[in-house]
Amino acid sequence: MSSGSSAAPRLRDDAPPAWNESAVRREFPIFSDPDNADLTYLDTAATAQKPGCVIDREAEVYRRSYANAYRGVYRLGALVDDAIEETRQSVRGLIGAASSEEIVFTSGTTAAINIAALGWSRRFLQPGDEILLSPLEHHANIVPWHLVAGEHGARLTWMPLTPDGRIDLDRLDEAFTPRTRMVAVTGMSNVLGTIPPVREIAARAKRAGALILVDAAQSIPHGGIDVQRDGIDLLAFSGHKLYGPSGVGVLYGRRELLNAMQPALGGGHMIERVSFDACTWAAAPARFEAGTLPIAQVIALKTAIDYVRGLGFEAIHSHEQRLLAAAHERLSAIPGLRILGPAPDQKGPIISFVTEGAAAQDVALLLDRQGIAVRHGHHCAMPLHEQLLQIPASVRASFGVYNLLDDVERLASGLERVRQRLRLT
Ligand code: ALA
Repeated sequence: MSSGSSAAPRLRDDAPPAWNESAVRREFPIFSDPDNADLTYLDTAATAQKPGCVIDREAEVYRRSYANAYRGVYRLGALVDDAIEETRQSVRGLIGAASSEEIVFTSGTTAAINIAALGWSRRFLQPGDEILLSPLEHHANIVPWHLVAGEHGARLTWMPLTPDGRIDLDRLDEAFTPRTRMVAVTGMSNVLGTIPPVREIAARAKRAGALILVDAAQSIPHGGIDVQRDGIDLLAFSGHKLYGPSGVGVLYGRRELLNAMQPALGGGHMIERVSFDACTWAAAPARFEAGTLPIAQVIALKTAIDYVRGLGFEAIHSHEQRLLAAAHERLSAIPGLRILGPAPDQKGPIISFVTEGAAAQDVALLLDRQGIAVRHGHHCAMPLHEQLLQIPASVRASFGVYNLLDDVERLASGLERVRQRLRLT
């Protein structure tokens, strides 16, 4: 457990000069709603609040230019088709893909990983094969692999971690065997904030003859992904963590790989021909886009990407790291509170902790009474909590572009009040 004096250290205030934190916050209408006057939102890792431009764009599609996609030659249909292709191009640019045909729209990260796991395993996975995962993974990047491993007689294997929750690169090679076919790793842990060295892991996967899938749900809002430079074969992320709409996500796959994979879902739009006896599949991306897309959400995803790119990933990074460093400084001075995971300069803007003598749920409820929204529980990362950290639950605070240094202060003083309320010594 961390110990230290209860006198609060002063917060550093070295904001990047170009970053106007109040102006950024004003772009998010939820914070000016009178009902949310006291809201300290520290759950961006679960879902990000939306800037007005994204909300407006989604509403505008429904008000002015809504129709189904890839179905009609009429004016509204063509407008929708064009707008969806613009989002595809925008995602291509965001992640450095070679072609917009490598960008598949899904309902979110979970659907994207399930589609990838099913589509790949149906074609390639053999009995005795191994799928190598990091122990940091969210259930969305574990359970689909358990499912396909069970169906095909394959098994899951696990990467070694350092004591502070980073991938242990010195021992990583030992986790590969001649049967390793797929490596699945998060771009950022949703619990510890750890940022695995994806490029290095991809290089080792390639040397071992395996493919790599990156779950970029947490890392995408922080930029820095280049699937070609980093050697990534498959990548998944959601719109809602990128300040975009919920209900839309992306599966990226290298074109040859996608076109070698089987579809995961069958239905409209994903076929080449269907007869009473058989069917053949369209090429990617349509092969993996059975049924009606989340139309307005896909279109507004482009607005979200434009928004974060307009803020600039470097500026976002400096702002969030400043909040994270301040949170570490303040929370590590609270007696009985133990911060999980690596040092702030080794991770993204997530701080998870346990409080000696208090259940995570009680801490979260008592923070909520002070208007502070955090997540508690196993955060859909049960193996990490129960088998590695050997705790049932933790409390997680996570930061986004709209958070203020004052939010860190409110969290720290809120936790002090929780300690007093629970009479923790
Ligand atoms: N994956 C989201 C989280 O970590 C929901 O909270």
